[in-house]
Amino acid sequence: MNVLLSIDQSTQSTKVVFIDEKLNILHLDSLPHEQKCERPRWYEHDPMEILDNLYKLMNDGFCVLKKKYTNFTIKGIGITNQRETVIIWDKDTGKPLYNGIVWLDTRTEKLVAEFSEKYNNETIHKKTGTGFNTYFSAFKILWLIKNNEYIKKKVQDGTAAIGNINTWLIYNLTKGNLYTDVTNASRTLLMNINTLQYDEELCKMFGITNLDVLPKILNNIDDYGVVKCDKLSDYANVPITGCIGDQQSACIGQAIFDEGEAKCTYGTGVFLLINTGKKIVHSSCGLISTVCYKLNEDNEAKYALEGSIGTAGSGVSWLVKNKLLSDPIETNDIMENCKDTGGVVFVPAFSGLYAPRWRPDARANIFGMTFNTESKHIVRSLLEGIVFQLNEIIYSLIYDMGIEMLQLLRCDGGMTKNNAFMQFNADILNTKIEVSEHVEVTALGAGVLAGLGVKLWKDLDTVKVLIRRKQSSFKSNMEQKIRQNKILEWNKAVERSLVMI
Ligand code: G3P
Repeated sequence: MNVLLSIDQSTQSTKVVFIDEKLNILHLDSLPHEQKCERPRWYEHDPMEILDNLYKLMNDGFCVLKKKYTNFTIKGIGITNQRETVIIWDKDTGKPLYNGIVWLDTRTEKLVAEFSEKYNNETIHKKTGTGFNTYFSAFKILWLIKNNEYIKKKVQDGTAAIGNINTWLIYNLTKGNLYTDVTNASRTLLMNINTLQYDEELCKMFGITNLDVLPKILNNIDDYGVVKCDKLSDYANVPITGCIGDQQSACIGQAIFDEGEAKCTYGTGVFLLINTGKKIVHSSCGLISTVCYKLNEDNEAKYALEGSIGTAGSGVSWLVKNKLLSDPIETNDIMENCKDTGGVVFVPAFSGLYAPRWRPDARANIFGMTFNTESKHIVRSLLEGIVFQLNEIIYSLIYDMGIEMLQLLRCDGGMTKNNAFMQFNADILNTKIEVSEHVEVTALGAGVLAGLGVKLWKDLDTVKVLIRRKQSSFKSNMEQKIRQNKILEWNKAVERSLVMI
């Protein structure tokens, strides 16, 4: 039996998913890692903890497969990852020089303000599809260079390596290959999305004068090297043939292959991507232009417009941490049975507001509480706050794409298992929603790429029939007037929340 291993390294956990040629999941396991928020606005991960988790998951997974199946071969590995998060390590020892600075971290807010004063954001947007925001990797890299003399020296003399988590994993699995893929590179603020190469001027602006520290940019299906790591003897020489950022991986896992198709993944944050085909659509409403995928040298890049929201699952974790919930599963019951928020509006800007407002300086706020407010109202209002942000993103993309409405949104991720929540999404977004029955859409994408890389299938069309399975769907039931009023309330809350800062 041919088996593919997909590694999904996300903000909250590391996951291994073993799949067969029909895309059935043979085995799945995950391990969480610590979310280090030692100072307000700081958000870090320990790269070694993530690596150790991965080794354990891969070795345990192999044992499980051995017990279950008498004859199997791991044909290839696909890697997908939380994007933007930065790790810098020593090329000689392989040891990290600092914790990973996570995409949600907003310590670089001042640097962003300085850059916005000094440079033209519009020019940067045209080059990179992104812009000046704490979200993107380059500001995290510059912060490390400015605040750590040792790192600065090693970056200058080329003895450090700078990467996102995909590069960190590939480097360790292959014992030294310094590679990234085109989708992850498109989130660094260092790559020109027109040429798909690093832009020297941008690299210099962010303190990188020696480009040897950066990983080589490869296609999503490519030769990333074979496993050589001593701790993974069962995987010796298994090729890594697929690599892609997690939201773009979910596009593959949802078969978003044609222009105009859109998907939305509810994870730590929420990420909506619409495929714009071979053209780069530059948003005039605060969306990001990003590489959706570039399969190999024979295929041109496909692009996407993306709207990202910083807080979703992370907001639910905050509710649990602060005892407003004892388990995330309780949100199902609250969305089902608590029909309104009792007038409460929650702006869940825990790490600022992302698309389309891009306000890293914003803070989370709860408005409209009275003595009648109960914890269930706060829970519901946080979930509603996620959907109102998504609504702003859909408004933006309708304008940017020049369409009347978004006909269909394919959704996935943990929160999509909450039917009442998805119904509220359909009500507010006024769009048909389909929820994939695949539980692991993101991992599936990287698995598909790995399989294409080792020629298990001919092309994307062959895999499409395997990907699109039964979906549950939701349509809007809400009167237009009620929807409008709710959106008005939300707008007022966001405005007030920004004035307070
Ligand atoms: O851009 C950040 C994103 O890639 C994180 O994804 O799955 O960890 O929420 P996730």
